[in-house]
Amino acid sequence: MKKIILATGNRHKVSEIKALLKGLPLKILTLEDYPGAVMPEEDRPTFSGNAVKKAEAVARATGEMALADDSGLEVDFLDGRPGVLSARYAGEDQDHEANNCLLLKELLNVPQKERTASFRCAIAVAVPGDQTYLVEESCTGSILQSRRGEGGFGYDPLFYYEPAGATFAEMPAEEKNMVSHRGKALRRTRELLERLLT
Ligand code: IMP
Repeated sequence: MKKIILATGNRHKVSEIKALLKGLPLKILTLEDYPGAVMPEEDRPTFSGNAVKKAEAVARATGEMALADDSGLEVDFLDGRPGVLSARYAGEDQDHEANNCLLLKELLNVPQKERTASFRCAIAVAVPGDQTYLVEESCTGSILQSRRGEGGFGYDPLFYYEPAGATFAEMPAEEKNMVSHRGKALRRTRELLERLLT
């Protein structure tokens, strides 16, 4: 059976990706199975650049097919910030709460109609001896003036998704997955892998 290495150190992502790839004729391994393979720094200016860099580095180090993703939030009023720095927006050692506080501060007094934003996700699959395939998806909404909802993670309590009339933090996980940047990108990645495996 072919192998695919998930190029992420995030356990939550590993289980999410494994669930979405379930049933494919693929042995899914992680970096824990390859202690020698080190993840490169996420220093590219785009989500796709970071995803490709990580997938290719892990494919090179292991000799196997590798999958990596990168995602984040782009706020139009902030010219696309926090963008690729979404996880570290308020600083390297800060948490989601600090990131949300900074976002609210930067958008203070900005009217609701100018608070449009998109979550973006890029997933790269590097195939040794072949090429690197890229899938990109997004989900558009707007940033509220205060948090709503208890679910999700990151910027979810501030991200209002108009068609649902709710923030991502107010939507059940399955509902968010149906429309989210990452849910859509992972489903397309599954289709891509199905094609590559036949
Ligand atoms: P990562 O590159 O996928 O680890 O995501 C980087 C950062 O983007 C996360 O730490 C979050 O701050 C933000 N982010 C990405 N996807 C989501 C989401 O679905 N909801 C909320 N925040 C997200």
